[in-house]
Amino acid sequence: VGSLSEADLKGKKVFLRADLNVPLDESQKITDDTRVRASVPTIKFLMEKGAKVILASHLGRPKGVTPKYSLKPLVPRLSELLGVNVVMANDCIGEEVQKLAASLPDGGVLLLENVRFYKEEEKNDPEFAKKLASVADLYVNDAFGTAHRAHASTEGVTKYLKPAVAGFLMQKELDYLVGAVANPKKPFAAIVGGSKVSTKIGVIESLLAKVDILILGGGMIFTFYKAQGYAVGKSLVEEDKLELATSLIEKAKSKGVSLLLPTDVVVADKFDANAESKIVPASSIPDGWMGLDIGPDSIKTFSVTLDTTKTVIWNGPMGVFEFEKFAAGTDAIAKKLAEITAKGVTTIIGGGDSVAAVEKAGLADKMSHISTGGGASLELLEGKTLPGVLALDDA
Ligand code: 3PG
Repeated sequence: VGSLSEADLKGKKVFLRADLNVPLDESQKITDDTRVRASVPTIKFLMEKGAKVILASHLGRPKGVTPKYSLKPLVPRLSELLGVNVVMANDCIGEEVQKLAASLPDGGVLLLENVRFYKEEEKNDPEFAKKLASVADLYVNDAFGTAHRAHASTEGVTKYLKPAVAGFLMQKELDYLVGAVANPKKPFAAIVGGSKVSTKIGVIESLLAKVDILILGGGMIFTFYKAQGYAVGKSLVEEDKLELATSLIEKAKSKGVSLLLPTDVVVADKFDANAESKIVPASSIPDGWMGLDIGPDSIKTFSVTLDTTKTVIWNGPMGVFEFEKFAAGTDAIAKKLAEITAKGVTTIIGGGDSVAAVEKAGLADKMSHISTGGGASLELLEGKTLPGVLALDDA
């Protein structure tokens, strides 16, 4: 969008797809407005260039028109952040939308109702995409979090609106998650955590081709331990992934990647916030106990290693950080990353849970980049191309 000038935009109706899929509580209050704030630079840029902004998004996964998935709760926050009265339509297509769009002043913002109120959105129905497009002159996609979906408002609509370009948020996400990962300042380390290795196979395999150091944590490590013949107690193990774990270890070796697994773990007698806990060596988890976090020695080793890096990407927590008792490993990594960011290391947080962990630690503004995409950033890190990006003219 930065390549578009005032001449391209003044008085033009811009269909802007954002990802305003924010969490709401029972009283329809936004509980995390990160995605709204992240969408502001592109909206403001378009407003300042005199465009009429027609803002579209999905929220949740509604089946048909469902009031609790309305985008109405977004209006006050958007209006506040943008300094204008955002107008809201009751639909995302149709006569009312056409009328409201036609009466928008230059620099005005019209928010459309949830595009997923139509099943045609997720089906990427061409007729529906055409209807969405019919209200505007050009297309900007800033919905990074939804770019892995080939839906009507993220992909189909680009066939009917030209130019179709990326917004600033989309650009920034790609600069970090593709650019910095493809051409990292070295040493380049990846920290991959999360409960299951099965959901991270693609990410680990793809990153093994790029990184110098791979640090593993989270529930997935017990599958690696078991594969190495360690006693894992009643820790979470994916029995059908033991061979895979062994082959990932071999692959790291053959690529010269230094692979770090935790050397000690915090074990609990049950999966509970108030469980009994103790620290044990990773190789000998006692019977009846389960690992829920990495231990202090591992934190130390990981921290010393991270001090040697120039680029770090983090996906997935080190333990069950939702339970205070088992959050130390994840918190320590978040703090270490904040510390090295201040020293000039590029730190990239991709994926839902690690982002939540960094936010919980109050360190969200201390990293080089925090992705607004969960599934989308995971797919990028797996080396996939995203349909919402591919469809753009400046892809
Ligand atoms: C997300 O929250 O990951 C995006 O908004 C995409 O939502 P979806 O998984 O329902 O497509």
